[in-house]
Amino acid sequence: MLRFELERLRQMGLLLETDVEVDAKFELGGILKKLKNKRPVLFNRVKGYKMPVCAALYTDREAVYKLSNISHEDRIYKLMDAIANPKPFKVVDRGPVMENIITGNIDIRKFPHPYFHEKDSSTYITAGMLVVKDIKTGRRYTSIRRFQVIDRNKISALIASPYLINQFLEMEKMNRPLEVAIVIGYDVPFLLASQVSSELYGVDKYEIDSALRGEPLEVVKCKTIDLEVPAHAEIVLEGVMVPNKREMEGPFGELMGYYGEQKMHPYIEIKAIMHRNNPIYQAAFPCREEHLANGLLREVELYYALKRLVDVKDVHVTLSGGYRFHAIASINKKQEGDGKTAIIGALSSIKDLKHVVIVDDDIDIFDNEDVELAIATRFQSSRDLVLIPEACGSGLDPSHTTRGVSDKMGLDATRPLNNERFERCRIPGLENIDLRKYF
Ligand SMILES: Cc1cc2nc3c(=O)[nH]c(=O)nc-3n(C[C@H](O)[C@H](O)[C@H](O)COP(=O)(O)O)c2cc1C
Repeated sequence: MLRFELERLRQMGLLLETDVEVDAKFELGGILKKLKNKRPVLFNRVKGYKMPVCAALYTDREAVYKLSNISHEDRIYKLMDAIANPKPFKVVDRGPVMENIITGNIDIRKFPHPYFHEKDSSTYITAGMLVVKDIKTGRRYTSIRRFQVIDRNKISALIASPYLINQFLEMEKMNRPLEVAIVIGYDVPFLLASQVSSELYGVDKYEIDSALRGEPLEVVKCKTIDLEVPAHAEIVLEGVMVPNKREMEGPFGELMGYYGEQKMHPYIEIKAIMHRNNPIYQAAFPCREEHLANGLLREVELYYALKRLVDVKDVHVTLSGGYRFHAIASINKKQEGDGKTAIIGALSSIKDLKHVVIVDDDIDIFDNEDVELAIATRFQSSRDLVLIPEACGSGLDPSHTTRGVSDKMGLDATRPLNNERFERCRIPGLENIDLRKYF
């Protein structure tokens, strides 16, 4: 529940809160950018709107771990356990999200959708969780997508997922709309469950959410469509993706801080709105840091891909690499060739991954200095570099879009086995020295 997590962030001393009026056009996003999107913010007064806006809530690893009761060490196991052992959710008759139900005279522009960048085509919903039911299995699929606000009851949807596009195209062949709900105002288990790759596991993401939260996710039935949504959501938009029609979408400043292309995309007609009394609007700055949740799930995939091949210790899909282009993995090297094998495994586990560094398990892969040390002292490019030209990449990377392909690179920065030159200098008793005793 969003409100509960805002309170926990406040108690942890992490939430920045302001009563100064901000403009949803440029100013709100500008503040988030100045804060490097690293601190959760609650804007209590937004010019021209009646509700507060929260943003950048789930950007910090430690905070996300605390909010979801997981630790850095057990994160991969806990997430995988929830995927492997999903738990039932619970349908309830009523929930706070039903406090206001609007079915006529729909106008989604009454919500403070931010306008982020100079050349964006419109205001955008950036933390909207799209919910659909798999048309064959009936399983619930959630994913955050961006939605361009077109009109009072119309938004366009950019869908990068082949899974989701196929759902829509299947319905379109029958000239039938795809029912969708957009949930605004969610908590960490709902977010983490949404980032699980459906193609890989084919699961019901509400059930993964229930496993992660340790109790059934409570959902209510939508008013105009056959979907369930969290009973404690702040705002829910109910609608349909309209078959055989498209609208122009973009440009929009996206993940890596570049503008995405303008293209024709399907659009959604909003049929109903449900919202709590005094709703809190949730936004996500459309650039990098908000995607930590996505990176956490990519780490699960990377870890399990490597586990089959080598003795992997930990993996890190990095923030500066947009939580998808760069990864570092540490391994307990047991035989020559483990480093290269790990590169093959890593590059085939995440489609968007461009560069991966494999290091030994004495290197702290969350410390850039330590990783650079490994590259500086254990890596020789004529021998340890793996280069794969022109593979599939991501349209979010402008260097990919010029040719439509991406080169992949792996750096094996592990030591050769049994070579004394690589012994690291140690000071006996270092771990017992407490500087506070001396200064
Ligand atoms: C804050 C946030 C914003 C996101 N925005 C988008 C987006 O605009 N478009 C998109 O295709 N994916 C976006 N994603 C990633 C998808 O939500 C994610 O890929 C999906 O939930 C996982 O399912 P999939 O493997 O089927 O894509 C975003 C993720 C986060 C955490």
